[in-house]
Order: sequence, then C-alpha cells, then structure tokens
Amino acid sequence: MAEGEFNPENADLKKIDPSFLAVIKQREELKKSLSGIKHKIGVYSAKGGVGKTTTAVNIAYTLSGMGYKVGLVDADIDTPNITYFVGYKDVPARDYPLQPAEVNGVKIISTAMFFTDTSKPIIWRGPMLTKMLKEFFVDTKWGELDYLIIDLPPGSSDAPLTLMQLIPLDGFVLVTTPQHISAINTIKSGVMAKKFGLALLGVIENMSNGVPKGAKEVSEALGCEMLGMVNLDLNIGELSDLGKVPVLEDERIKGVFIDIVKKFI
Ligand SMILES: Nc1ncnc2c1ncn2[C@@H]1O[C@H](COP(=O)(O)OP(=O)(O)OP(=O)(O)O)[C@@H](O)[C@H]1O
Ligand SMILES: [Mg+2]
Repeated sequence: MAEGEFNPENADLKKIDPSFLAVIKQREELKKSLSGIKHKIGVYSAKGGVGKTTTAVNIAYTLSGMGYKVGLVDADIDTPNITYFVGYKDVPARDYPLQPAEVNGVKIISTAMFFTDTSKPIIWRGPMLTKMLKEFFVDTKWGELDYLIIDLPPGSSDAPLTLMQLIPLDGFVLVTTPQHISAINTIKSGVMAKKFGLALLGVIENMSNGVPKGAKEVSEALGCEMLGMVNLDLNIGELSDLGKVPVLEDERIKGVFIDIVKKFI
C-alpha cells in the first residue's frame, strides 16, 4: 500500500463514515473478481455524442485484431448502444451469473441484451443503474482477458462515479470533437478521473478535420498525450448504423485505430 493511502486496518473505524468503508470493501471484492483481466480501460467524456461508443468499439476490435483477448462493457446502462454498433441481434441472454455474448471474437455485455424489445426506453433511477453496472463486473463470467474496454455514458454522475470509485481501472482514453465546448467538458472529465487517482492514457480527437484542435486543448490542459485524430467520415456513421465495425470493414480506418492503440497499450 502506497504512503498516504487509506489503510482500513490502521484506521479508527468509529470515526469513519460507514458508507466509505463499504466502498473500500467493495473495491477489494471487485479487485478479486476481476483478477483474470489484465487491463481495464474506460473510454470517456462527459460530453454527449462525441463518439465514445464508436471509439470504444473500434479500440476493442483493433486490440482483438492484434491477437489480444478483449471484452467490451456497455456502461451506458439506460441508453445502451454497443449491441447496435456490433450488429448483435440475438435473443436476450438470461444466464446467471451473466454470460457475455461473443461477437466476432470480442466478449460483450450490455443492458440491451436483457430486453426483448430494445425499442422501449429504460427508465431507471440511479441506484438501479448502479446495481446493474456492478453486475457487469462482479457477476459476469469474463474469464481471462487481456483488455476490458468500458464505454462510459456522458455526464459525471451515476455510472462514471461508480466506475471511478469501485473499479480498479488502469486509466481512461478521453474523446473530444474539435469544438471548444467539447474540449471544456472533456477537460472536466479528465479532472474528475485525476481526483480519483486514475491515469489518463491520452485523448483522441474524433470527427476531426485533420488539424488538431479539441484534443490539443485537452492534452495541454490535462498534460496527457494526444493519441490521434479520427476524421469526420460518413462511412464511420453509415457502417455503425448497419451494425458493422468500421475497423473490420475499412483498411484506412483500421490503420488510424492501430496507430492510436499502439500509443497506449
Ligand atoms: N468520426 C466520425 N465520423 C462520422 N460519424 C461519426 C464519427 N464518430 C462517430 N460518429 C457517429 O456519430 C454518432 C455519435 O457517436 P457515438 O454514439 O459513438 O457517440 P457517444 O459519445 O458514444 O454518444 P453518447 O454520449 O450518446 O454515448 C453516431 O451516429 C456515430 O456513428
Ligand atoms: Mg455512447
């Protein structure tokens, strides 16, 4: 245990908020249940629609294409999109403990897999979201993995907060568009991760025009690496709409993601 880190064994337990102790206990349990997974990486920005899911999916399939064993968690519990992006249309998985679906070699778990009618909105309060999210880590049979990629929802509350508090993550890949407003919100996301002592693996500029802007702003503000730029490319949106993973379909996009991934693995 590093110097200055909280050690429950030496602490005066009467003075400590019981909810804080509960978090520490859960963290320890999660560390054990995730011990078969070598690296756990979140893909995050508090800004909506910047391409977090697109990035998470393409990073996962790029790593898988490099020969790694990869899992992908859809942490966007109430608005899950991963199954659409990878063309998963199976009947809901009902096994317990939860069994991830294997789609083209990547193990995937998403709330969407548990609803027969995915057109219906999922209207849950925070505690329910948090419970489901924890199940994806505690009760899911991941087996041995090299990488678990976690697609975060926008915002900085329930799911991002739970993940940062409880899951022993190796760090985050941040995603921004070129726009200043996206950079501002992504910087906040990086600051939040740092508050939890989590590493920033770098930032990707998505929907770029090839001239670094948003990611440059983020990288300068947070002191993290610029991992690369993914151009605004109609093919990416169209392939994703068809449930096809761009890096599996388009050699140029594949090359862009290989260069990005090589910078943080
Ligand atoms: N580089 C790109 N070029 C063109 N379209 C893109 C690109 N990246 C993502 N898109 C499209 O933009 C839309 C939003 O992307 P995506 O769902 O990945 O964003 P998100 O950050 O995950 O959104 P949310 O905050 O809702 O989770 C999708 O339709 C996606 O296909
Ligand atoms: Mg998303």
